[in-house]
Amino acid sequence: MASHTMLLLAVLCVAAATPLAHGLIIDGITITNITITGLLVCSETGNVDPSCSSCSGVPGALVQLSCMGGQTTLGQALTNLTGFYKIALGIVDSLLFDASDCKVVISLPVVGTSCALLPPTGNLQTTVTLVGVVQTLLSAIANFVAGHLTWVH
Ligand SMILES: *[C@@H]1O[C@H](CO)[C@@H](O)[C@H](O)[C@H]1NC(C)=O
Ligand SMILES: *[C@@H]1O[C@H](CO)[C@@H](O)[C@H](O)[C@H]1NC(C)=O
Repeated sequence: MASHTMLLLAVLCVAAATPLAHGLIIDGITITNITITGLLVCSETGNVDPSCSSCSGVPGALVQLSCMGGQTTLGQALTNLTGFYKIALGIVDSLLFDASDCKVVISLPVVGTSCALLPPTGNLQTTVTLVGVVQTLLSAIANFVAGHLTWVH
């Protein structure tokens, strides 16, 4: 009897120590889908620039969600005509998402844009921040926004 209990404890300890892809749980809600939204502006930094009234959004730019220390791209999207983008992850990719590790990355130069203000080389990148969770019957969507873009050589 005692040895069985010991064995059970040993099995439980091994199970607890095994890292599993468990996905994101926020306030007890298991997240099924993730969205990341942001804006790319034709300014010298790609960010909204209050001193530049003529700086508008950059359309058609490829925006990627880079995760696992930059080894995996979990999702991507193109900016729309006014420079906004929304990356949507399904259930499988949401399991791999880690907000402390994933970054939004825009490779420069942005192909096909007439914006001459953005840096010509390198990447613009930023972390993401949770803004809310929307629950429906079949899904729980965690919505993130992209932060302040930083130029990385
Ligand atoms: C681009 O997306 C944003 C955010 O969803 C939206 O407000 C805007 O109207 C869109 N622009 C165009 C031209 O569709
Ligand atoms: C969540 O992701 C799945 C794919 O894994 C997709 O079929 C479904 O439409 C998504 N739900 C929402 C609300 O985006």
